[in-house]
Amino acid sequence: MATEKTFYLETFGCQMNAHDSEKVIGTLEHEGYRQVESEEDAGLILYNTCSIRDKAEQKVFHRLDEYKRQHREGKRFAVLGCVAQQEGEKIFERAPYVSLVSGSASYRKLPEMLVRLEAGETRITGLDDRQTDETFETEFTARQNPYRGYITIIEGCDKFCAYCVVPFTRGKERSRGSDSVLAEARRIADQGYTEIQLLGQNVNSYRDPEGKRSFAELLAAVGEVAGIRRVRFTTSHPRDFTRDIVEAIDAVPTLCDHVHLPVQSGSSRILKAMNREYTREDYLERISWIKAARRPISISTDIIVGFPGETEEDLIQTMDLLAEVEYDCVFGFKYSGRPNTPALTMIDSISEAEKARRLQVVLDRQREIQRVNYAKHLGQIMEVMVEGANPARGQVIGRSSQNKPVNFTCAQAIAPAPGSYVQVKITATHPNSLAGEAV
Ligand code: 5AD
Ligand code: SF4
Repeated sequence: MATEKTFYLETFGCQMNAHDSEKVIGTLEHEGYRQVESEEDAGLILYNTCSIRDKAEQKVFHRLDEYKRQHREGKRFAVLGCVAQQEGEKIFERAPYVSLVSGSASYRKLPEMLVRLEAGETRITGLDDRQTDETFETEFTARQNPYRGYITIIEGCDKFCAYCVVPFTRGKERSRGSDSVLAEARRIADQGYTEIQLLGQNVNSYRDPEGKRSFAELLAAVGEVAGIRRVRFTTSHPRDFTRDIVEAIDAVPTLCDHVHLPVQSGSSRILKAMNREYTREDYLERISWIKAARRPISISTDIIVGFPGETEEDLIQTMDLLAEVEYDCVFGFKYSGRPNTPALTMIDSISEAEKARRLQVVLDRQREIQRVNYAKHLGQIMEVMVEGANPARGQVIGRSSQNKPVNFTCAQAIAPAPGSYVQVKITATHPNSLAGEAV
């Protein structure tokens, strides 16, 4: 009797990776594999890795070391994603029990690589780098998120920000045809999804290869798919962020009241060193478009502190920008030098302790800004999409259109299912969440 083919997959990193994993799982299942919940039960163990900062990368190598002990006859290991692309064949030296190393630009070749794995090959690589023009589209996506349907619209990145590893790990920019995106949106709406998140490293540089729709037009068209109630998109790059995106949000009610617009720094001098191709003023102009929208759109951002050469004056400019924009959410990071990136050749003289201090200063300031922002919702009634429950606290967990977490109580005996929508009256506010009761 043939032994059953089983796999365990663990994902690190961003939503692009989470969605890549859904496509990889679908591909594996189509090839006759069954997903299992633990490494012990699996014949094939896959890690879909992230290398955005050194800490993320170290996590993967720790995990590989941890499971080295389990390397028994018949158990195979595969390293996928950004660390795979970055480290390539060096992974075989560091972890000789790994049989397959593949970056995301090579996933379209997975079925073929799996056949070679089954035939007993032990050093299989998929390391297509910036040469490939092809995207990874599959009809076998095994969606793991019960309430949010991810759809990739653009892969790779051509921006080359000085600190960023992504252009080296995800290859060059390649957009997917808008008809194909819309067909997938209709398919998942038919499956019962009401929220769609469009994904790309830089969705604003989307260029329809068929020339039919701009990004804003595609956004609006997805928002008009029957059954879809919420559309989100990530990530935007300020340089390519155009006014028609705000106009689309104004015109199409299903497009969520939220834009994630990573600024990285409030200092034009640092932005130039980062090769971001916009100034503080350019950025603030885009913010003014968003703020002029007919409905209030929440704005979130990413900040890097401690980029090589960042002074106290640069940091003050970042702090001033936080206050000026009044963000609803900030993801802050300490600069981490990454392989291949131009910033690696700059003198990184800011100590870890100083980076940590700067990060804390930024996050403390932001907490106060959010305390004020979130307090404005007190007494409002808003639509919340349910994401889960916290039975211990008798609360349902969800999110507003503005992407704010809302925890609420509900008189019903059975908690509303993930993906359902509830009107909630806000009775308390915190710097990072809202609380209320279903009405
Ligand atoms: N060091 C620290 N943070 C980084 N990011 C990207 N590269 C680095 C790096 N080398 C942050 C940016 C980006 C987010 C996803 O991660 O803020 O927007
Ligand atoms: Fe990590 Fe960036 Fe790769 Fe996403 S694209 S997995 S954040 S390195």
